[in-house]
Amino acid sequence: MGERLRQGCSLGVIASLIERTFAAMLPHETWSVRVGPGGGDILALTADERELTAHMAPRRAAQFAAGRREARAVINRLGYPVAPILRNSDGSPLWPPPLKGSISHSGGLVAAVAGYDPALLGIGIDLEAMGRLFPAGAGDLVFNQDERQPRWPCPSFPYRLFSAKEATMKAMRQATGLRLGWEEISIRAEFPGQRFVPNILHQAYAGGHSVIGGVTTAHGFSVAVCAVFNLAQSTGKTDLGPDARV
Ligand SMILES: CC(C)(COP(=O)(O)OP(=O)(O)OC[C@H]1O[C@@H](n2cnc3c(N)ncnc32)[C@H](O)[C@@H]1OP(=O)(O)O)[C@@H](O)C(=O)NCCC(=O)NCCS
Repeated sequence: MGERLRQGCSLGVIASLIERTFAAMLPHETWSVRVGPGGGDILALTADERELTAHMAPRRAAQFAAGRREARAVINRLGYPVAPILRNSDGSPLWPPPLKGSISHSGGLVAAVAGYDPALLGIGIDLEAMGRLFPAGAGDLVFNQDERQPRWPCPSFPYRLFSAKEATMKAMRQATGLRLGWEEISIRAEFPGQRFVPNILHQAYAGGHSVIGGVTTAHGFSVAVCAVFNLAQSTGKTDLGPDARV
């Protein structure tokens, strides 16, 4: 019956809302976010990429193909030649150099971000369909003491916090190789504004980075992007832009 709806809004409309928000939040032309339908065609994958789906269930293979489709669209939008996006041993996507990027799936959508900047070391994205996480008590596992609150200021707050942490995990993994646990990231949030600043608490983390993020919600989805820049090379272009509220 046509495109699926979420909270009275088609997934296509939600996808373009999220893209537009991040286009305003990531103002310079070297980064881009794409959001699209969560299922893709495995026949559109390259032979090497298709091989990675060999042991996947059909639904997961379609999800994987959708991620690659949106990743390729981002690469194309950034003006880089489209190349296979294989996989690192930890499961993260292997972007064609010099690009950094990330993929996330949830609730019938897929999101991909990629960027190039001489100072950019890692970038992560996390998309969450709100309403399926955070049963009572789940927050205690994910949020640390600084983040927990007796009452969330609004129902979307824990989802934004969660997306911000997941995006930070992915970006930091790409930038430093560190596998951060939930308690090793503390998000200083300016919600309902869109920016956040992650504080990295891992004992092996040596610093030297500018770690910044942006998060938004749209019709039942929360989505966050986090970028890690080399502080020494950072040019000041690395700001996430004006704090446009949604
Ligand atoms: C593994 C992980 C990415 C799963 O995230 P999720 O919210 O369940 O799923 P998402 O849909 O958002 O992300 C899945 C995508 O992330 C990417 N991914 C997979 N493993 C990854 C990793 N170790 N690091 C970064 N990205 C990863 C892949 O692109 C995957 O999609 P694909 O297989 O179709 O290409 C998440 O747990 C994570 O951030 N891990 C990195 C750090 C970590 O493992 N910390 C320990 C936690 S205690």
